[in-house]
Amino acid sequence: METIPKEEGLDHTISMFKEGYDYITNRNNEFDSNLFETRLLGERVICMTGKEAGELFYDNDKFVRAGAAPKHIQKTLLGEKGVQTLDGEVHQHRKAMFMELMNPEHIKQLGKLTADEWERKLSEWGEGADIQLYEQAQEILTRAAVRWAGVPLEEKDVPKRTKQLVQLFESPTSVGIQYLRGTSARKELEEWIAGLVSDVREGNLQPPAGTALLTFSKHHDLDGLPLDERVVAVEVLNIVRPIVAISIYIAFLGHALITHPEERSKLEGSKEQPFKNFVQETRRLYPFFPFNAARVKEDFVWNDVSFKKDTLVIFDFYGTNHDEKSWPDPHEFRPDRFDEDQMTPYNFVPQGGGDYAIGHRCAGEWATIEVMKVSLDYLANRMSYDVPEQELGYSKTSIPSIPESEIVLKHIRRN
Ligand code: HEM
Repeated sequence: METIPKEEGLDHTISMFKEGYDYITNRNNEFDSNLFETRLLGERVICMTGKEAGELFYDNDKFVRAGAAPKHIQKTLLGEKGVQTLDGEVHQHRKAMFMELMNPEHIKQLGKLTADEWERKLSEWGEGADIQLYEQAQEILTRAAVRWAGVPLEEKDVPKRTKQLVQLFESPTSVGIQYLRGTSARKELEEWIAGLVSDVREGNLQPPAGTALLTFSKHHDLDGLPLDERVVAVEVLNIVRPIVAISIYIAFLGHALITHPEERSKLEGSKEQPFKNFVQETRRLYPFFPFNAARVKEDFVWNDVSFKKDTLVIFDFYGTNHDEKSWPDPHEFRPDRFDEDQMTPYNFVPQGGGDYAIGHRCAGEWATIEVMKVSLDYLANRMSYDVPEQELGYSKTSIPSIPESEIVLKHIRRN
């Protein structure tokens, strides 16, 4: 049996927060191994990176998600008792409820709603406005997300709800006041959506057919029972929150356009392939969701390494997207690399990997790509702007990472 390299010491949670996206890669380099053992949040953890590790991590016979997500993350980002925490048949049944929304026509509709909201903003800004892209994208996406999900939102509440939704994904790794703001935003949002679920069930609200609010409110679990209102709220927020989080990718689209002007001409006239390439390379290169955790279901041996039941295992998304074996010159922005389809569900994992229906791969990947393509068309073709001097760095240690200037665009004009 192989012994895997081990990071000595009592606990390395602080190093993980200090080194952020690079924590696992730094140890891989130090140990010359894509597998190592450490201690995080007071327990023994195995960290792994790369395509083969991905194949292992997404094997449902070997790993479960129950008891894997830290409470800190459930109290802010994810919510409790949602699809991310389920396993086996119960997970597949709940996941099917999400995947029902992800048909091509419905995804196109999300793209159309996103375009409508860009148009609304362009009219609101008028000619010559100065904006911060990340902030504006948050509101564009909140409006598009609630419309797509069938959630009524009064105009006066748009700023408040946008802020709360952003707090859900900006707060999970923070401590102190920002973390508390995240937990209270979650409480208020869940109460609001649970109230709407009860209105739907009592016949006082009729969201359009095929929307998340209607579909999830009417969903029955494997025992034929409707979901608890609070759980429906968690799951509706599992649609609305991540759509708003695409604002981070939109800020990075802006960053990529500014720092790679040579790529811009390829996007003239909304051609399909260059758009797809640009979006995929943005999702591959820039830091977003760093890694995820699962627990060993039963003892097993893999590549001569023993995995003991209940051990926490972390699969490094960021490191796998930058693994030289799959991605030559991994830190360069080169959209054309996606001309040749070299991605697999295990080496390209910005939103997790594996299978949508039976695994925990992100249900919203196609939705994300559609929203990004529509937004890229606005940024590259449908508007002009000046780019002032600004701080274009982005942190590799704060999670999630956001470009420092949040992308300032000046003198916006509609083309
Ligand atoms: C902003 C960009 C997004 C990122 C970076 C992202 C990332 C992720 C990641 C890393 C996972 C876990 C994958 C795993 O552990 O295997 C996940 C799961 C999930 N995502 Fe996304 N996501 C994004 C957008 C979306 C969107 C737009 C939606 C819905 C419209 C969505 C819905 C979900 C759901 C429902 C799950 C749980 C799947 C399961 O547990 O089976 N995500 N996402």
